[in-house]
Amino acid sequence: MLEGFLIQGDITRYPGSAIVNAANAALAGGGGVDGAIHRAAGPELAEACRKIGGCPTGQARVTPGFRLPARYVIHAVGPIWRGGQHQEAELLASAYRASLVEAESLHLPDLAFPALSIGAYAYPAEEATAIALKTVFAFPCEFLRWVTFVVYSDPVLQIYRRQIAQLQLPVKEVGRYSELPFLPPPSP
Ligand code: APR
Repeated sequence: MLEGFLIQGDITRYPGSAIVNAANAALAGGGGVDGAIHRAAGPELAEACRKIGGCPTGQARVTPGFRLPARYVIHAVGPIWRGGQHQEAELLASAYRASLVEAESLHLPDLAFPALSIGAYAYPAEEATAIALKTVFAFPCEFLRWVTFVVYSDPVLQIYRRQIAQLQLPVKEVGRYSELPFLPPPSP
């Protein structure tokens, strides 16, 4: 059974198997979490993305993590919010599912997600969070056992807390990455 964790922090510091990036369809880098991931991973990440060439909205592509603590980056492209009548909900769910499919194909036991589409792409955060949580917990995982939702800001943390309680999902909040029970303790 999949176990979930919630943490407020910087996803580039996630010390597990893979992090998901909120990428754009050109995989061209950008601001927000994408910019932070590219800065922390180093220029090799942009080069790897350039070789892949791009990724349609609702899909995901994998690169190494380069200088990140995480071994892999799964670049997922969420939809830009255009009022809600342009298949945004399906495309957002699809971006989460596509990330899980990539993690499963690598046989990864753990994965960390940022809040896809709720920043520059302006997806209403409450709805996006419900989709994120429902989609992840509905996914038939085989190798994945632990999914961590990494939120950056206080308002988004409150939204995740509320949705987790409302949907009654097995998600435990932790204060720091070293409290994640499935990761080896940091070396002294
Ligand atoms: N760690 C975790 N979450 C972060 C971090 C970080 N270091 N930095 C930002 N965030 C949060 C934001 O606060 C927001 O809640 O990630 C969420 C997603 O916001 P964006 O990064 O703007 O992602 P998105 O809305 O999917 O827009 C994607 O923005 O940067 C560009 O290239 C990217 O064009 C793409 C678009």
